[in-house]
Amino acid sequence: MTRYFVTSTGTGIGKTFVTAALAHLKQCPAYKPVISGFTMETAIESDTGQLLAAQRLPITPETIEKISPWRFAAPLAPSMAAAAEGKTLDVDAVTGWCRKIPEGLVEGVGGVMVPLHGKVTVLDWMAALDWPVILVVGSYLGSLSHTLTALAVLKARKIPLHAVVVSESEKDSVGLQETRAALAEFIDKHAHLVTLPRAASWRETSWDTSWI
Ligand SMILES: Nc1ncnc2c1ncn2[C@@H]1O[C@H](COP(=O)(O)OP(=O)(O)OP(=O)(O)O)[C@@H](O)[C@H]1O
Ligand SMILES: [Mg+2]
Repeated sequence: MTRYFVTSTGTGIGKTFVTAALAHLKQCPAYKPVISGFTMETAIESDTGQLLAAQRLPITPETIEKISPWRFAAPLAPSMAAAAEGKTLDVDAVTGWCRKIPEGLVEGVGGVMVPLHGKVTVLDWMAALDWPVILVVGSYLGSLSHTLTALAVLKARKIPLHAVVVSESEKDSVGLQETRAALAEFIDKHAHLVTLPRAASWRETSWDTSWI
């Protein structure tokens, strides 16, 4: 496996669900280098905790530091969460850290243009890495426009798209296959377009992962 960056059209769409399912099924490493809203008390439910569990790793201060070195307590965009602690996020350091990862999945934060520091967003992080991207989107009403907007900015920055994963939304779902069919019109032939039906947990997804 090579290295993939997992991004999304926004927060709470399914990046961690998809990343954990893939790490679980493919038995590959998974990282969440920058995390907001993180506290040790709630580490188990956090993205970091879920990604560690998917790799069958214990949740300890050492393993947390290993996959999530930049942690902020406030549940805000990293630029704001860091500022709340009187800090700034060193995006070059984050990118340099990612480049040392030999293989696996890196989950971003929120959507494709979440601010990291000043005018620097997740888009700049992805462009600097130039890794194939997995874009996780929903099947909710409104997702098509959010997805096409995200795809347009990825394309404008020449960020390689590996796959779009439609993770079935809980609320206002307009249908997984219908969303997939509508998106198929817009997605370049070389990229994969896959669906992930709702499941009780990422542990319970029986998913064809041959696209990765
Ligand atoms: N296919 C699915 N089946 C069941 N639940 C899902 C699915 N996709 C996402 N969810 C649920 O939706 C919620 C948000 O998903 P998730 O935490 O993966 O989002 P995220 O994009 O990683 O958010 P963040 O920006 O906070 O990192 C979670 O409770 C998750 O379990
Ligand atoms: Mg997440």
